[in-house]
Amino acid sequence: MKTAEIRSKFLNFFQSKDHTIVKSSSLIPANDPTLLFTNSGMVQFKDVFTGKDTRPYKRATTAQRSLRAGGKHNDLENVGYTARHHTFFEMLGNFSFGDYFKESAISYAWELLTTVYMLPKEKLWVTVYFEDDEAYNIWKDKIGVPAERIIRIGDNKGARYASDNFWQMADTGPCGPCSEIFYDHGPDVWGGPPGSPEEDGDRYIEIWNLVFMQFERDKEGVLHPLPHPCVDTGMGLERIAAVLQHVHSNYEIDLFQNLIKAAARETNTSDLSNNSLKVIADHTRACSFMIVDGVIPGNEGRGYVLRRIIRRALRHGYQLGQTKPFFNKLVADLVVQMGEAYPELAEQQERVVAVLKLEEERFQATLEKGMKILEENLEGLKKGGVLDGKTVFTLYDTYGFPFDLTADICRERGVEVDEKGFEAAMEHQRETARASGKFKTHQSLSYSGQHTDFQGYVSLETESKILAIYVEGVSVAEAAEGQEVVLVLDQTPFYAESGGQVGDAGALTGYGNAVEVHDTQKITANVFGHYGTVTLGQIKVGDKVQAHVNVQRRQSITRNHSATHLMHKALRQVLGGHVQQKGSLVDAEKTRFDFSHDAPVTPAQIAEVEAIVNAEVLANTEVHAQMMSFDDAVAGGAMALFGEKYGDEVRVLDIGFSRELCGGVHVKRTGDIGLFKIVSEGGIASGIRRVEAVTGLNALQWVHQLNDSVNKTAALLKAPPADLYERSKLAQEQTRQLEKELEHTKEKLAVALASDLASQAKDIKGTKVLVTSLKDADTKFLRDIVPQLKDRLQSGIVVLAAEVDGKASVAVGVTNDKTAQVKAGELVAFISEKLGGKGGGRPDMAMGGGVQLDALPDALAAVPAWIDAKL
Ligand code: ALA
Repeated sequence: MKTAEIRSKFLNFFQSKDHTIVKSSSLIPANDPTLLFTNSGMVQFKDVFTGKDTRPYKRATTAQRSLRAGGKHNDLENVGYTARHHTFFEMLGNFSFGDYFKESAISYAWELLTTVYMLPKEKLWVTVYFEDDEAYNIWKDKIGVPAERIIRIGDNKGARYASDNFWQMADTGPCGPCSEIFYDHGPDVWGGPPGSPEEDGDRYIEIWNLVFMQFERDKEGVLHPLPHPCVDTGMGLERIAAVLQHVHSNYEIDLFQNLIKAAARETNTSDLSNNSLKVIADHTRACSFMIVDGVIPGNEGRGYVLRRIIRRALRHGYQLGQTKPFFNKLVADLVVQMGEAYPELAEQQERVVAVLKLEEERFQATLEKGMKILEENLEGLKKGGVLDGKTVFTLYDTYGFPFDLTADICRERGVEVDEKGFEAAMEHQRETARASGKFKTHQSLSYSGQHTDFQGYVSLETESKILAIYVEGVSVAEAAEGQEVVLVLDQTPFYAESGGQVGDAGALTGYGNAVEVHDTQKITANVFGHYGTVTLGQIKVGDKVQAHVNVQRRQSITRNHSATHLMHKALRQVLGGHVQQKGSLVDAEKTRFDFSHDAPVTPAQIAEVEAIVNAEVLANTEVHAQMMSFDDAVAGGAMALFGEKYGDEVRVLDIGFSRELCGGVHVKRTGDIGLFKIVSEGGIASGIRRVEAVTGLNALQWVHQLNDSVNKTAALLKAPPADLYERSKLAQEQTRQLEKELEHTKEKLAVALASDLASQAKDIKGTKVLVTSLKDADTKFLRDIVPQLKDRLQSGIVVLAAEVDGKASVAVGVTNDKTAQVKAGELVAFISEKLGGKGGGRPDMAMGGGVQLDALPDALAAVPAWIDAKL
């Protein structure tokens, strides 16, 4: 059975059991700053489990693209060395949100495996959490699995609930006991059943994990029961494909074999069993999909993980002898394998190739630099020596040279790596990064009350009740003047940061108390945290307050946000339909908009975009927002953006000629935007451009500043602003002319000086010797004048010195008839040494000098005696 068929049989089976088939969400979790990547099927449903979000269905099934390379679930280092680990994989799952529980979950799984996939019952083993008698009994009595193939697994990872059979998404969030189904690949493969000392072998492979979601774990590690018990299951598509295709490793399934062959082709490798090929094949998938979902290689957060994976792939290519870019060439093969199931991959093929290629070219330079530094450090070490951790870390951190590559090379040379020192340096850096908030995560606050009713689309002021107060992350009943607080209100006009639009600021005022709100952030999808300071009196939970948004700031934000929609549409009109939003930040000052496009945007194109947007502004049409189903919205031409979480009902926003899905706040009519002006444009990564634009009063301010600088320049050049260009061109030409004349004058001066200096030459044993120090000369002047002096002396020795930038500079010339006795290079070395420096050159001409300017008179005074001795 081909991988594609296995996927569709799974979804169809659960659809026949009243499950709704839901699309895979992006690898970037929407609205979840606690998680780096989507690591399993349940991520898009996280808030549904905890009751913070609801869906129109109680049963769902998905094939979810997932990544385990960073964070709690990280398989990166295992890839290539086991039969079943991947960074990127597809997870098949079925979900119940407070509907069915253990019994149906287990029965469905068994039915699918044994009647649809037709697996022999006797090959299946199961595990349950050691305390979970209910699950144990269902397996034994209802399903009829013999007791010897049901294994109880306890807290085998050293702490309460730290168990292979207790699943949690991350350090906080939904979790619960689980029951896993294993497939026995038979006695030909080494390994033992789960829980046995040989469990890490490849004989018994976990194929399906049924999680009975019952708790939510808070950041203190305390488990709180969920409102309704739920089910979350996960079956790795690649693992079940291996079982159904009768192979023992995921890397032997149809899809992977084709990728491995492609990797072998690009690295000229004939041994298809080489582990490096598996690594490359796995990483091709991970990197391509990360790029499709909007990640760009970088030095922080997700971008950094992507860069690491790319580099790991390149390192394995390097081990196979391929030092030229090759990785990007595998994208085409991946599209053949997965482009049909994931049209977004096929659509973005060119961009993915370009991003990878650029990163490969960069890394090639890194490899060369890193190898040089490593070689230098290894030179002094003997066999059995230790390469210190600091050097390894510098290689890693400054030069991007992977630790394992350093370790591999050291291993080849018989040198050990100080891994502890490396770890220590790494930990130090992590702490520094944490302190500077590199990967910003919002404080997670545990709140389980009423949702926030957002009134901010229609009003900027509400009568609100304080539902919760947090001080330093802890829930309190009251707070006093001066304290920093986070507040939850029953209703609010404050917009919480999302979709690129920053959170609102403003004030809350009550009877004898007030809070200044400086930011609004979501605590969960439907609960807003108002971040602020108590500026007057005391506030208590239950207090009534008047909530006012800072109107001017909000208006600036909405102007910028609405202009972003118009600009997005205009960019697509001017540059083409390939333009896609890749990120945006809208605040009170500007809109910053990143989009896919492969060439710089020309000034003419920018002017065109500005003209289109300003025409829409002047048309002054009314802005409309309406709720509709996602499918209707997309059918109606709305642009849906990557990485956004869309419910089944979406908000469709019509602004002028643009229609987008958006939850943000906007102007009432396009005319409210005022003047729109793009103020910068540039590339930020391969194939990604960034524009910044301003609107309204900010645009006016921008024009004022420009005007001011034009006027100042005009006054300086004594020209009317309209003539500035011609006048500055003229001024530039005049400067060039003057420079030429100055050069000419200097040359004339040098000739005069040379004749004057030549007359000062002294006689040493019949040889004319000139030793002198010049004022106001630079090194170039010294070098130019020495030949002239030699010509004038015809036969003799010239030593000229000068102070240049606080140091002594020396030039020595010897006419050819004297170089047998006196070598200019030796003489300049003699002088330079006395100046604390070095010098050298040819026998007839040499340059030198040193930092000890004070020593110059003595150094020159010593010259005649030195020459005398040579003659
Ligand atoms: N969420 C569970 C897992 O990833 C099913 O194993």
